[in-house]
Parts: sequence; structure tokens; C-alpha cells
Amino acid sequence: MANVVAICGSLRKGSFNRQLMNTSIELAPAGMTIKEAPSFAAVPVYNHDVQDSSGFPKEVEAIHQAILAADGVLIVSPEYNWSIPGGMKNTIDWLSRYKEVCFKDKPVCIQSAAGGLLGGSRMQYHLRMTLTAIEAQLFGKPEVLVTFAAKKFADGKLTDQPTIDMVKQQLAEFGKFIARVKV
Ligand SMILES: Cc1cc2nc3c(=O)[nH]c(=O)nc-3n(C[C@H](O)[C@H](O)[C@H](O)COP(=O)(O)O)c2cc1C
Repeated sequence: MANVVAICGSLRKGSFNRQLMNTSIELAPAGMTIKEAPSFAAVPVYNHDVQDSSGFPKEVEAIHQAILAADGVLIVSPEYNWSIPGGMKNTIDWLSRYKEVCFKDKPVCIQSAAGGLLGGSRMQYHLRMTLTAIEAQLFGKPEVLVTFAAKKFADGKLTDQPTIDMVKQQLAEFGKFIARVKV
């Protein structure tokens, strides 16, 4: 059984990315469970002096432990100004400062939903760069990029069937990827 921890890059109550993450949690294939990671909402801005004087904030420690214990990570995030939302990037920066980096060798799958035509693709590529720097194992294809998000969700749920099918396919392949690369 692969246990996957999910992180949503948006803190917004009506977030399309949160709805997409919840869809993945519901659609997890046989042999996989997906559970949301502790929230990064209260993670302070990274400051090396704070790390030296007070250690890691408890909010960061909780996420660190959740990822360490997981077989894989699913990141579902919007794109902010062509890149990774600052709150999530800041959290990854904190996580990268542990002696044992929780993302090292960890299989990671990415999804995004955005208002426009590119579906968060630039965020996905930037996130791939950042996660490569901390030696995660990045799942490649199929990609899940939800374009024109407002048209694909209704009543708090993903309703667009081709997108639902893509999510199912991606999670099935991610499950195989985890089994193949698990250290
Ligand atoms: C600060 C900010 C920056 C944004 N920049 C982009 C962007 O670069 N590309 C894009 O496709 N959408 C951008 N958007 C629009 C988001 O795609 C849209 O608000 C989306 O619904 C956010 O995801 P959420 O619904 O999960 O919160 C931006 C939104 C915000 C709040």
C-alpha cells in the first residue's frame, strides 16, 4: 500500500486546487491512500537566524514528519505570477534545511489548476527545478494541468470528465512509479 501525502499550494477557501486535490483523494487507485499534509498557513518566512536560535517551527516540523513517513507526495498548486506560490515555496525552503531532507528520493507528482490557458504549467516547471535541487524523484507523465478552471468545477467539485479521467490515469501511473523507484 502506497501512502501519499498531499499539499495544496492555495490557502483560499474556495480554491480550485483544493477541489482538485480532494478529487485525487477520492479517486486514489487501489493500493494507494492520499491524505492531506498539515497546513503551511502559519509557517513564518524563512530566516536562517531564526533557525539557528529557535530551530524549526512546529508547523514545519509537522509537515517534515508527514513527508518523511509517506511513500510519495502529491503537490496540487496554482501558479502565482508565473511561478510557485510564495507560501509553499517558503515551506519547501524550510524543509530543505533539515539534515535529513524529507524530499530526498521521495516520489513527487504535481497537479495544477489555473484560470487561464496554460493551466499553471510555468509553476509546474519551476517546482520541478526546486524539487530537483533537493533530490526528489519527479514523476513525469501524464501531466494534470487544469486550464480555465472556473469552467471545470461546480459546487465545490471537479466536474469536467476528461480532467477526471486524466487525474485517474495520472494517479494509476504515479502508483506504479512509486513501486518502481521506492528507495
Ligand atoms: C497572486 C496571484 C497571481 C496569479 N498569477 C497567475 C499566473 O501567473 N498564471 C495563471 O495562470 N494564473 C494566475 N493567477 C490566477 C489563478 O490561476 C487563479 O486565481 C486560481 O483560481 C488560483 O488557484 P486557487 O483557485 O486554487 O486559489 C494568479 C492569482 C493570484 C492570486
